[in-house]
Amino acid sequence: MSPSLEHLIENEDLGIEILHPGGLEITGELAELCHIGKNTKVLDIASGTGESAFYLVQNFGCHVTGIDISDSMIKRARKKAIDTGIIIKFKKGDAHDLAFDDNTFDVVISECAVSFLNKEQAIGEMVRVVKPGGSVGIHDIYWKESASEHMKSRFAEIERERPETLEGWGDLFKRAGLVDVIMLDRLSLVQRWREEIKKRIGFTGQLKIFFKVFRDRGLSGLKNVRESMEIFQSQHLGYGIIIGKKP
Ligand SMILES: C[S@@+](CC[C@H](N)C(=O)[O-])C[C@H]1O[C@@H](n2cnc3c(N)ncnc32)[C@H](O)[C@@H]1O
Repeated sequence: MSPSLEHLIENEDLGIEILHPGGLEITGELAELCHIGKNTKVLDIASGTGESAFYLVQNFGCHVTGIDISDSMIKRARKKAIDTGIIIKFKKGDAHDLAFDDNTFDVVISECAVSFLNKEQAIGEMVRVVKPGGSVGIHDIYWKESASEHMKSRFAEIERERPETLEGWGDLFKRAGLVDVIMLDRLSLVQRWREEIKKRIGFTGQLKIFFKVFRDRGLSGLKNVRESMEIFQSQHLGYGIIIGKKP
């Protein structure tokens, strides 16, 4: 497995449960923009440790199903459901091929995940399973116009992420058949997130990452992690919310 920074943060048990910039604040904003309310049937694609699903159920009174491709994420999320007694179904599943019928959910969301995926296919699946009139919403990183092709291809190699520009995300949504598409810039949340992650990982966590990468991948692995960190911290990446409605 490539020593991508994302992968390390997700899998090295660093005590980080919310795996997207903006924390639950942006999850709440996404929910409001998608008109999630009492009894709304929501699908959260790539639900990670389930933090957002619990937040949505507790704060919006909706019903959430979470799917994620990772066994360990599903296990962590299910444990929380057992510990809290809150009923949320977490199923293993692939965002590219959802095991749900057409027009099943009122709202389909995916937080900080579509950049990792075949975007057309994943958005196509979101549109397929949402009901007519329902919202599809994501938040994800985006490239600013200033990002070079070299930076984009290095980021794809190291992190396996292929973000769009904010306009590009909007175009993808429109091409998938969504209407009333809006794109909102939430760049300031990334800046706060960088500081938060640094604090949460702490010095011990940073050492843990350093030794793991060095052991598995040697110096070239460390070089990649450093390059990736520089891209994450550069002025060429932004963060945005994209919402559309199925006609
Ligand atoms: C950056 S994390 C975001 C997790 C969660 N949405 C959050 O914001 O906390 C990306 C998640 O995408 C999941 N993932 C990656 N590829 C996937 C796929 N093809 N189908 C479903 N989930 C996937 C990973 O297992 C991981 O949990």
